[in-house]
Formats: sequence, C-alpha cells, structure tokens
Amino acid sequence: MPQTFYIETLGCQMNVLDSELAASALKMMGMLQINTPDNADVILFNTCSVRQHAEDKVYSALGRLKNWKSEKPFGILGVLGCMAQKDQNQIFKRAPHVDFILGPGRLDILDETISRLITEKIKPAKTVCVSLNRTANSHLDVLDSFQQYNPARIVSRESAPPSSLVRIMFGCDQFCSYCIVPFVRGPEQSRSPLDILAEVQHLAKQGIAKITLIGQTVNSYRYQEGERSVRLADLLYRLSDVAGIEQIDFVTMYPTGRQHGPSGIDDDLFQAVRDLPNVLKHLHIPAQSGSDAVLQRMNRQYTAAFYREMADRIYATIPGATITSDFIVGFCGETDADFEQTVDLVKYCRFRNSFIFKYSERAGTKAAELYEDDVPDEVKKQRNNRLLAVQIEISNSITTQER
Ligand code: 5AD
Ligand code: SF4
Repeated sequence: MPQTFYIETLGCQMNVLDSELAASALKMMGMLQINTPDNADVILFNTCSVRQHAEDKVYSALGRLKNWKSEKPFGILGVLGCMAQKDQNQIFKRAPHVDFILGPGRLDILDETISRLITEKIKPAKTVCVSLNRTANSHLDVLDSFQQYNPARIVSRESAPPSSLVRIMFGCDQFCSYCIVPFVRGPEQSRSPLDILAEVQHLAKQGIAKITLIGQTVNSYRYQEGERSVRLADLLYRLSDVAGIEQIDFVTMYPTGRQHGPSGIDDDLFQAVRDLPNVLKHLHIPAQSGSDAVLQRMNRQYTAAFYREMADRIYATIPGATITSDFIVGFCGETDADFEQTVDLVKYCRFRNSFIFKYSERAGTKAAELYEDDVPDEVKKQRNNRLLAVQIEISNSITTQER
C-alpha cells in the first residue's frame, strides 16, 4: 500500500503553484494524493499570512486534526508556506501535534523531510526549517536561504483550455508598509529566461495551451544574460513563439517604484501586450488606494494622479485593454475623504474587477510598528461594501458593452 497524502492550500497563486509542485514531488516518491484528510498518512497545510483571517483558518483546521493525530500516531502533519516562515516554532505552541514546519524558501527539502519522518518513525519528530530573517542578516545570506523551488512537475490538463502557472520570479523588494510578503517570501529573484522557456516548451508538449506567468511584481522581472538585461516584455516575445501556447497572461504588477524609475511601467511592456496576439489584453495592477496621503503611509511609490495617467496610457496603447486592481480599505488613518478618493479612482479607471480587502494588521511590518489600526471594523466593512457596489456596477456595464 503506498503512503497517502492530503494537501490543503490557502492564499495566492504562488501557493497554488507551490502545492502543485510539492504534490508532484511526493507523487514521484511513490505517494498517492487523496482529496480528504481523514485517511491520509501525511497531511500538509500550505498557508497564507497576508491577512489574519487566513491564519485563523489554519489554526482552527489544525485544531480539528488533533483527533486524526491521536488515532494515527504515525501520521505526519506538516505546515508549509508563509505562516511557517512567519510564526516558525510558535506554531508548535498552538498546535503541538504538528510534526514539521517548512518555510516557502525551504520547500526544496520537503520530500527528504517526509521520507525521513516516514522511515524514522520517532515520536515526537519535530522539525523546523525556515529561511533567515530579512532584517537581521546580510542580503546575500538571506538570498541564499530562500531557495528557488522548481522541481519537475506532473502536468494536469483538467482545466479548459489546459492551463498552467509558471513562476518567473520569487520574493518581493517593495516593502509596502502593510505587507508581510517581503519578509516571508524573501528577496526578489528572477528565474533564468532559459529555464522559463524550457519549462513552457515542456508544458506545451504535454498539451498545455494557456500559461499564467506569476510573481509578486512581474514588471520588475530582470535577468542579466551577458551584456543584455532581459525584461518581462522580452520574455513575452520569447514565450509567445512556443508552438501550442495559445494564451499568455501574467500577474501581479506594481504601478511603479524604486525598481522602475519615475516613469513607471515600461511602454515596451504595454506595446508587447498590444502586439503579441496570444498575450491577453488584460493587466492586473493593484492601486491599493486613491488617496495620496494613504498611499504614502502605505509606502506605495506613486500618487493617484500617476496611476490615472498610467491607466490612460494603457487604454490609449492597447485597444480593448482591461485593467483589474486590488484595494485595501480602512488602512491606518484613512478618513472618509481619503476613502472617497479611492471611490473616484475606481470610477475613473473603470476597472474590469477589483479585489477589495479590509486592512489587517500584520506584526513585523512597518505599518504595525508606526501606525495605529484606528479604523473601526464596522467602518472597514461599510467601505468594503460600498467600494464593491461601485465596482460591480462598472464590471456589469463593461460586460454589457462586450455583449
Ligand atoms: N491587509 C489587507 N490586505 C492586504 N493585502 C496585502 N497585505 C494586506 C493586509 N495587511 C492585499 C493587497 C494585495 C493583496 C494580495 O492582498 O491588496 O495586493
Ligand atoms: Fe506586498 Fe507590496 Fe510586495 Fe505586493 S508589492 S507583495 S503588496 S510588498
């Protein structure tokens, strides 16, 4: 009988891909993936730390697994992903029946960790392997401790068109003041274009027709090939030539920032999106807020006017383009007037869709250190609902126009 495993994934597409890769690695060890935890020999949680709600869900799910563990003392319970990096040993305090904790920068040792736990059968077999703390170590050491995870994968063709996520970057260097991601996913690292191309060619040969390139800020993709610096636009040209790839899109972007200089996202990226027939005419560029005061406290490196001008430029450059965004409502110190500016930005930019989140304070971030989480939850909820209603009206009118 092969050992069985169950993996539950929370959070963003980065985690979805990590879980898919982890599942492939375990299947290649001869393990069998199953869809419910009850009969599994190994249970893995691939966790998210971006908001408190996501963490609460994991802790309550872990709590429910106490019975499983007492019925199956040799069952293995592992916590992977962003919470593993953020909370580290503290996870054992709240969930002592967890066996091992692996940060997202240490998934490279997942298969050996599991085979060791299976063969050793030592109780308790507590293992923690995480990357270095970004602020307390040198950049090179930190970089080294966040391993790129690109094992071979078993391709699934279940979606229509058959599609795959392809990672082009790891980590984030933007340090938006509210965000835990740069701490748990580590420094920005771009993958080699040759590796990405080889992966896409392999996926296409397996019948994949659509690829989504993923990274925290894909417009800062940069890889030095001899004298040449390869950027996202160059990558799109190379990948769009791969036989069998009918659709390419990419998420997520940053409107500008230290990496991109004062002019923002390069025009040649917008032109590549316009000119390449298999690249979707859609850009996801989170604005987060329409108030300059809030954007500044968020450490976002642009103003609302800058964002508007960028949206104008996208619509002017790419016929039929659509833009989507993310917003945080109720960030520290956000007034009614600040919020109204966010509503104005949504109306002006006519986003096809927006993901709207209530601000959730994250320990370890600059915002948690510097500002009070002073907008009452009731007000956050009202603002969330109001912005959503404005967005839905715009989304509906866009869909009607398309019909
Ligand atoms: N609270 C609420 N939303 C957050 N996001 C990131 N950090 C937080 C936080 N602390 C949102 C941002 C980001 C999306 C992935 O999650 O809008 O774009
Ligand atoms: Fe977080 Fe900002 Fe990086 Fe996005 S760009 S992952 S919001 S720090």
